[in-house]
Amino acid sequence: MTRHFLDIDQLDADTLRGILDSAKSRKQARAGRPKGTSDDDLPLAGKILAMIFIQPSTRTRVSFDVGMRQLGGQTIVLNVDDLQLDRGETMADTGRVLSRYVDAIMIRTKSHGMLDELVAHATVPVINGLTDATHPCQLMADVMTLEEIGGPTADKVVAWSGDGNNVATSWIHGAARFGYALRLACPEPLSPSETAVDWARGNGADITVTQSPEEAVREADCVVSDAWVSMHDDQKSDRHNMLAPYQVDQRLMRLAKPDAVFMHCLPAHRGEEVTADVIDGGQSLVWDEAENRLHAQKGILTWCLG
Ligand code: CP
Ligand code: NVA
Repeated sequence: MTRHFLDIDQLDADTLRGILDSAKSRKQARAGRPKGTSDDDLPLAGKILAMIFIQPSTRTRVSFDVGMRQLGGQTIVLNVDDLQLDRGETMADTGRVLSRYVDAIMIRTKSHGMLDELVAHATVPVINGLTDATHPCQLMADVMTLEEIGGPTADKVVAWSGDGNNVATSWIHGAARFGYALRLACPEPLSPSETAVDWARGNGADITVTQSPEEAVREADCVVSDAWVSMHDDQKSDRHNMLAPYQVDQRLMRLAKPDAVFMHCLPAHRGEEVTADVIDGGQSLVWDEAENRLHAQKGILTWCLG
């Protein structure tokens, strides 16, 4: 069966654990090595990954590209203007054709439906590099980062403050698969996906949804925030008013556990969802988190193409 990496709720806990273990051991094995050198075993030699970007990216683009090179493979980057999509070619036909040339396809798109259409017609593994609904590759790097600072996530409490967006949904899926308790504080109009919350609770996750950031961060080991305006959003001004009380600042961090960490998938907007003193301060893990995108992508790629 083709191994797609589409969403955290589509894969079982053992598979996700295996991907993380592989990411961690590859990270350890090449500690201190120049970035441009390959891993010893070259598991993806002769393989090509096509990367479709309907929306911009820094981390996802570069971490997949460098990851493929370190694994011995190659990449082709296809920005939206490079393809025939804007001239009426369907995603279905694009998937059929790319599957004749490359071994796997990573896609970042503003519509989850476009990902579904690609998956339905591609005959090679497809990786979700973010949609308007989810960001599963980010969640893998985030869990890896959280585990690096203190063992398994199962005993941890994670607090989310802000928009109940695509990244929040992947954190919700992850609560069922990795066992952390999740406390989400979101304004009512920007509540997290009820489908995701119901699914996660039905699969044993401990999830609280509140409108109070203070309540969410109490006893948290990790506080997470994300942009107030995601790439697929257009209601800029309303969002800033609604989300102002959800800013993660020192006052909010002080309500969490004394050794709590701060995470953010980046790109960040200092003075909006997080203050500069938090994201640039001693509790912030954002640079390790960004680095771990690379290692986590390698775990995902070797699983998909293994
Ligand atoms: N976190 C993340 O996905 O970053 P990019 O949008 O830069 O890829
Ligand atoms: N929620 C953000 C995440 C960016 C990586 C967005 O979708 O723009």
